[in-house]
Amino acid sequence: MKIFKTINELKNYRKDCKGSVGFVPTMGALHNGHLSLIKNSVEQNDKTIVSIFVNPTQFLPGEDLDIYPKRELADIKICELAGVDAVFIPNTKEIYGEIEPQILAPNKKGYILEGLKRPGHFDGVLRVVLKLFGIVNPTNAYFGKKDAQQLYLIKNMVNSFFLDISIVGCEIVREEDGLALSSRNLYLSLEDRTEALKISKSLKVASQAMIKGVFDCKKIKKIMSETMENMDIEYIEIVDRDFNKIDKIILKNSIILVVAIVGGTRLIDNLWI
Ligand code: PAF
Repeated sequence: MKIFKTINELKNYRKDCKGSVGFVPTMGALHNGHLSLIKNSVEQNDKTIVSIFVNPTQFLPGEDLDIYPKRELADIKICELAGVDAVFIPNTKEIYGEIEPQILAPNKKGYILEGLKRPGHFDGVLRVVLKLFGIVNPTNAYFGKKDAQQLYLIKNMVNSFFLDISIVGCEIVREEDGLALSSRNLYLSLEDRTEALKISKSLKVASQAMIKGVFDCKKIKKIMSETMENMDIEYIEIVDRDFNKIDKIILKNSIILVVAIVGGTRLIDNLWI
């Protein structure tokens, strides 16, 4: 497996890649959720490139940029064992110049929900993803469905800028007890972890309600917030897959989104229906 730190090295390598190239952009601290993206890419492409870059522009002031977990050696080993062909680990100077055009998330869908709670976050995500796409020029790029709004906005960007890249959304990976995998789970104490389980439980309760025929979004949100009693809930929202708020669940076209703060850590989860 090749390890590249500069854009030039990566581009030179990419020039000689034959066939399809799968790309998995990450911020490192890889877990089984990332691994499932990587496995999909390795299975579906001739070559797989993974990037590891903690992107400063997607963190708001006061967020966890400085303490974001870094495990470069372990990440490299994970990629190697998973059959990745090349890992790209640039530093910030490699990616960002002093004078740059602005990339802003679309007003309508980029500043609601996650974008409302973290204004500017998606500007930074789209900016770095566009840059990485320019460097890697992938055939297929892999993103987790856990970051549902990110996935939507990246697909929208690819369509808007007429990029020839297929965006592949991959299923959420959970611990056995239901907790959705996240690099930020490393911040949780044992007590926090137990509390955090109420988040995935609320989604389970929502799906049980739907099995019983409850499709009214108000009712579902109420049942969910009852399950998350005493938690610091940031939002529970139900949208269609274009991120329009809806009143009634539409089968095969709805996402239930939930965000809560547990022991100071912001955890997101969702259910695609
Ligand atoms: O989902 C992430 O880990 C990040 O937002 C991404 C897509 C790697 C961009 O920094």
